[in-house]
Amino acid sequence: GMAVQINPSILSADFARLAEEATAAEGADWLHVDVMDNHFVPNLTLGVPVVESLARATDTPLDCHLMIEDVDRWAPQYVEAGAGSVTFHVEAAAAPVRLAREIRAKGARASMALKPATPIEPYEDLLSELDMLLIMTVEPGFGGQAFLDIMLPKIRRTRELISKHGLELWLQVDGGVSASTIERCAEAGADVFVAGSAVYGADDPAAAVRALRTQAAG
Ligand code: DX5
Ligand code: ZN
Repeated sequence: GMAVQINPSILSADFARLAEEATAAEGADWLHVDVMDNHFVPNLTLGVPVVESLARATDTPLDCHLMIEDVDRWAPQYVEAGAGSVTFHVEAAAAPVRLAREIRAKGARASMALKPATPIEPYEDLLSELDMLLIMTVEPGFGGQAFLDIMLPKIRRTRELISKHGLELWLQVDGGVSASTIERCAEAGADVFVAGSAVYGADDPAAAVRALRTQAAG
């Protein structure tokens, strides 16, 4: 089957101990970093200086999920801060193609996210510009929300579009991914799984990462 990646979200970690929390989720493929500005979403987390420090403090590459306005201006700064992958929301981007190209040109993987109500079909031609597409399976803004089953057909259609065009981009899901929902996501065609509360809410985050990987692999 497809290679499976598990990306713990530090939104559910202890923000005073980010480097240790990164180490605690041993075996993670990427560390998912949720950047929120209290405008695009009704919550506020962290910004460029924290990403810069975290990139220096861990060997795990950073997968930065930008839930912010003015993302055309900010995303390149997260590449410079050391992110290996930068995800912008299409709802917030003024020029998504130009932005994806800029992220790639600066040396990171370019990724685009869709909120639950945003369809994939209008963006079919954009997929070739991306290294990853993120389908939100909760409303962005908070960890610990219930997985939206109604997103499964969108994941399936997106996987079909990726195959139809023979593209290599990764398909990420984020929100409510846990032992009880990850198999459905994998079956629908996702191959990169963000998990916040399912990893950092567990007594042993590294064991939770291993268990999720096994479940996703089917
Ligand atoms: C929500 C964030 C997610 C969040 C997921 O807006 O984008 O990355 O941390 O948390 P869980 O896995 O607990 O739903
Ligand atoms: Zn996220």
